[in-house]
Amino acid sequence: MKSYKIAVLPGDGTGPEVINEGLKVLEAVSKRHGFKTELQHYDLGGERYKRTGEVLPDSVLAELRKFNAIYLGAIGHPDVKPGILEKGLLLKLRFSLEQYINLRPVKLFPGVDCPLKDKKPEDIDFVVVRENNEGLYVGEGEFINKGTADEVAVQISRNTRRGVERCLRYAFEFTRKRNKRKTLTLCGKTNVLTYAFDLWERAFHEIGAKDFPDIKRDYAHVDATCMWMVKNPEWFDVIVTDNMFGDIITDLAAMIQGGMGIAAGGNINPQGVSMFEPIGGSAPKYTGKNVINPLAAICAGQMMLETLGEDKAAAEIEDSVKWVTAKKLKSLAAGKMGYGTREVGDLVVKGLDPQARN
Ligand code: IPM
Ligand code: MN
Repeated sequence: MKSYKIAVLPGDGTGPEVINEGLKVLEAVSKRHGFKTELQHYDLGGERYKRTGEVLPDSVLAELRKFNAIYLGAIGHPDVKPGILEKGLLLKLRFSLEQYINLRPVKLFPGVDCPLKDKKPEDIDFVVVRENNEGLYVGEGEFINKGTADEVAVQISRNTRRGVERCLRYAFEFTRKRNKRKTLTLCGKTNVLTYAFDLWERAFHEIGAKDFPDIKRDYAHVDATCMWMVKNPEWFDVIVTDNMFGDIITDLAAMIQGGMGIAAGGNINPQGVSMFEPIGGSAPKYTGKNVINPLAAICAGQMMLETLGEDKAAAEIEDSVKWVTAKKLKSLAAGKMGYGTREVGDLVVKGLDPQARN
């Protein structure tokens, strides 16, 4: 029997609650499809940091390299200064494990309230490929004359040909495999960021023309991308962009698919260990109340199975989630679902079996 070693990092706030539901679904779907998961839990996050001062010990990082995948809940603790856990844990994992793609599907499921008037599930179905190892996130920069009236703060966006190229190639391949509109949109800002997006645009057209002639190339500035996402989201198939723009546009994208309760993402190293997470934060105010929506974490588990090659099991999870959003939940918002966190997990488990969807 196939078996996958999965490192589980529930993290902070509501992370553990949503991960529990995700694991419940994984367990059930693995039984139905004849594979096993070997789970190992790690208590990384705000509590451990407060207790021991450790954020991500080197020994743990070394261990994490040996898993087939990492399943992450949420990072961010109200008692820990912003930046410590985000940089020291989340970004450090993404960078150290060379998860150079942040894959964020944007799909409006049936029955989900969309804030865009008249937009239906068939109108909102695209994927954002966010570069995940470079750009402004490298943390390079300096202060000059800090604390004085002449202070200057510099923050560098680093874009390497190698880093940009591997991201673009992944996006082109992904667009080809997805086989929908065969259109890849580069989201940038070539009119102002005349170094960074000059490189992106040149590489985009060179690689596209040479190796992906079957994929239509499209370009939109990041501000226009935001506008189109609200006005005509049906125009998008796959969007590729840098780390910072990808961060920003995927929060907007999450809102048009029904909110943080449903938005999942994968930090992908196509040759190594990938990490899957709901993209919303740790939502501390809802912690321990059984009100947070676990669907984003469940969908992150689905992406994990897809990446591991368990396509049928992944599709079954998606079908069940669609049944739950269409027929069961009143809303996707925390505390307004009409069910508790654990009950939503139970519903998804139940709906794995098509006969049980009633
Ligand atoms: C995300 C988050 C992170 C990011 C933060 C927590 C560092 O917003 O996954 O989108 O900016 O990438
Ligand atoms: Mn973000």
